Amino acid sequence: MASQFRFLTLDDVDLEGRRVLVRVDINSPIGSEGEILDENRIKEASVTLRELANCKAVVMSHQGRPGKSDFVSLEAHAALLEKHVGRPVKFIDDVMGPAARSEISKLKDGEVLLLENTRLYSEETIEAPIEECAKTFLVRKLSPLFQAFIHDAFPAAHRSQPSLVGFAYVLPSLAGRLVEKELRTLNSLMPKLRKPIVYVLGGAKVGDRLEVVETLAKTGFVDKIVVGGLLAPVFLEAKGLKLSNNNVKKDKGFNGYVERARRLLQWREDVFLLPVDVAVEKNGERVDCPVDEIPEGYAIKDVGLETAELIASEVQRAGSVIANGPLGVFEEEEFAKATIRVLKAIADSKSVTIISGGHLTTALRRLNAEDKVTYTSTAGGALLHLLAGRRLPIVDALELGRINAEKLKVLRTNNVGG
Ligand code: 3PG
Repeated sequence: MASQFRFLTLDDVDLEGRRVLVRVDINSPIGSEGEILDENRIKEASVTLRELANCKAVVMSHQGRPGKSDFVSLEAHAALLEKHVGRPVKFIDDVMGPAARSEISKLKDGEVLLLENTRLYSEETIEAPIEECAKTFLVRKLSPLFQAFIHDAFPAAHRSQPSLVGFAYVLPSLAGRLVEKELRTLNSLMPKLRKPIVYVLGGAKVGDRLEVVETLAKTGFVDKIVVGGLLAPVFLEAKGLKLSNNNVKKDKGFNGYVERARRLLQWREDVFLLPVDVAVEKNGERVDCPVDEIPEGYAIKDVGLETAELIASEVQRAGSVIANGPLGVFEEEEFAKATIRVLKAIADSKSVTIISGGHLTTALRRLNAEDKVTYTSTAGGALLHLLAGRRLPIVDALELGRINAEKLKVLRTNNVGG
């Protein structure tokens, strides 16, 4: 079957009996007891693994970032992966050392082995060109053990890190089913986005989201940007408000973020919808207050309910809505209120609606509204980068990996499109 892509998929390559390395993204929200709060990415990753029933499959993923509370072992993920794949999944607490390499070499057809969190190694957290990623220890140690590499980590498709792009430089490589589905669906939705295009941005990854907003500012593919989550205090400061360290944790990147937000506001302030009120936690309770009356001693934990109504009206007027990340501290019911209000407006909208990220997907499921949006993506950053018009590193890597596959003659037919 001819493909719309210039890279290979599982349909194009005969992998029977081969030892394959599968990079998935099962980076999941983790609770205070270390429990996995949402297994959607694990379920989505299992689709490709189920198809590899005649191969020896070794699976790798990252989880969290070093220094953050969700930077944990993948051991608990293995049990959930096993449930969704429907056959045993072994786990080894090693990524590329002798123990991991020995387990990999012993694998038999049909077996699945999950390696430990790739970000245990500092070289995995670099972002570098594909050739440099290919020279890392990780790629040099592991690639000789495999006959093919499958990239199925769509949520991390905007990262150019060794485990994501380095193997494609040296191994025949192809896209897994999740990457194929997400790229196919999003590519077909992009021309259908109608104006006004509204982005609702929340969550905690301020640097990443600023990058997306800066790209949108350059391309102009946006009419309104709703600022929530940890982006909100950054933009409020950029607007001239003085927030205390109790209101928001000002880590070392904060001032730099405020400067970038200030430049964006200078570019076109009318594009941004900033909170007019916020909710703080006072004696264990939610208290909503206007942004110019935020009490100094309390943490901001949500955008206010008046702001939520303004966002809901914006959503009603929109031709397309792209929402990523919760507007407040979603894990706490009181501070999930604005997110829920806005999600309900999105579910009621007749426009093109795209929801992304674990928290919003879980909330949508709880509202029984999964089928009321146009598309739910497993990705946050990758989806935003793609829609903003940036080329994803995954695409370059997979195109290179196709060349390796052609050289090594593992193709099923010569009838590969692109
Ligand atoms: C995500 O959740 O967006 C992906 O897993 C990428 O994670 P990262 O932002 O920590 O690289």
